[in-house]
Amino acid sequence: MQSILKINAFDSNHSSVSDASILELIKRRERSFGADAPLFYANPLHVVRGQGVWLYDSDGRPFLDAYNNVPHVGHCNPDVVEAVARQAATLNTHTRYLSEQSYAYAEQLLETFPAPLSKLSLTCTGTESVDLAMRMAYKYTGGTGFIVTRFAYHGNSVAVSSISPSVGLAVPVGRDVRLVAAPDSYRHPQPSIAGRLAEQVSAAIDDLEQHGVKLAAMIIDSIFSSDGVYTDPPGFLQSAAARVRMAGGLVIADEVQPGFGRTGTHMWGFQRHALIPDIVVMGKPMGNGIPIGGVVTTPEILKAFAGSAGYFNTFGGNGVSCAAGHAVLNVLRRDNLLQNATDVGGYLKRQLQAVAGVHECIGDVRGAGLYLSVEFVTQRDTREPDAPKAAAVINALRNRGVLVGGTGAHANMLKIRPPLVFSRENADLLVLALDDILRTGGE
Ligand SMILES: Cc1ncc(COP(=O)(O)O)c(C=O)c1O
Repeated sequence: MQSILKINAFDSNHSSVSDASILELIKRRERSFGADAPLFYANPLHVVRGQGVWLYDSDGRPFLDAYNNVPHVGHCNPDVVEAVARQAATLNTHTRYLSEQSYAYAEQLLETFPAPLSKLSLTCTGTESVDLAMRMAYKYTGGTGFIVTRFAYHGNSVAVSSISPSVGLAVPVGRDVRLVAAPDSYRHPQPSIAGRLAEQVSAAIDDLEQHGVKLAAMIIDSIFSSDGVYTDPPGFLQSAAARVRMAGGLVIADEVQPGFGRTGTHMWGFQRHALIPDIVVMGKPMGNGIPIGGVVTTPEILKAFAGSAGYFNTFGGNGVSCAAGHAVLNVLRRDNLLQNATDVGGYLKRQLQAVAGVHECIGDVRGAGLYLSVEFVTQRDTREPDAPKAAAVINALRNRGVLVGGTGAHANMLKIRPPLVFSRENADLLVLALDDILRTGGE
């Protein structure tokens, strides 16, 4: 198992950089941040400008961005830029003063949640949101046990990295944490994806009980982005969630990746599974690049936590971040971007499946909306993961001006997760480049 932070990472021992100015920037970066700060690609990219689905390097070369989900409504979206600039020029302070502006944002955001999820706490990052959700779960249940998937990533604080096994063995999971296999629809489609997950959750609960640990929660990234992107069949989370609740635990949906309409059919990934969690965690795309995260929960859970411990986050919910978040919601709605994620995502998936039809090295294409994964295998019958192939394709795409990422416990999958303003023409460009690389073995 490779740490998620090492996937598609620059390695000076296997670098293909020849450009003197890039080499100088790499050295300069090392002087301040050290050689181990993660950097993408064998030939790292110096981007200086972004617009919509395009990033531009220092020579003005455009790159199609099919990787970055933070610029959710497009890089430098003019509505977000304008809202942020206006608010920055008016007032930027914290949540301990009355503020119509942040309440209007909170109301609009909360309208997108099903009852009884009706209370919002604002943070700055996904990690802070997960950390807060953990504290709420500990307080509400009196338990300390956590169930997570085997290659999950939920963030980088002491507490949150203890429930993030994908960071690697150098950061051990917590004593009260139990791992369950992700619902791998490619390798284990039978007898039932839902049943297999539920059985593992039951076994984890039993094991916690045998060790005298009371369950606090199961936390699930409802698109399983670091585990390998598992989306189907919709509904497979329900029986696992029921077992958690029977044991007195809470269900936490980590929507940092699938949230804000990424899966197309729904605003939230958990809605695809017709599940109502107890706590929902948000981040990344929420402010289109301006740091903002959040936790939504029920009045009872919030009361149990905030009534005793209280919560204040200096920058969480500041005026500028709320302005960005509000603009993102408005653009999503006005430009019908969930529909676009469904249409273009469906089209892209079909095109990728057609490519898989002629290239044996692709074992599976899966995902929902504009979150897709292409899995490489050495042979289709053995389904042996082919990480070197995935790495070569990611770098070859970069060299042809298309950016995608890698994912999965075996680092053998492409992660395709563009801004939601991605078009069919953009999808065609990606697919043509991929097909050409696989046909020619091109670099
Ligand atoms: C599913 C998931 N949860 C939480 C986080 C943590 O978010 P942040 O990096 O903003 O702290 C991430 C970040 O990649 C994530 O993918």
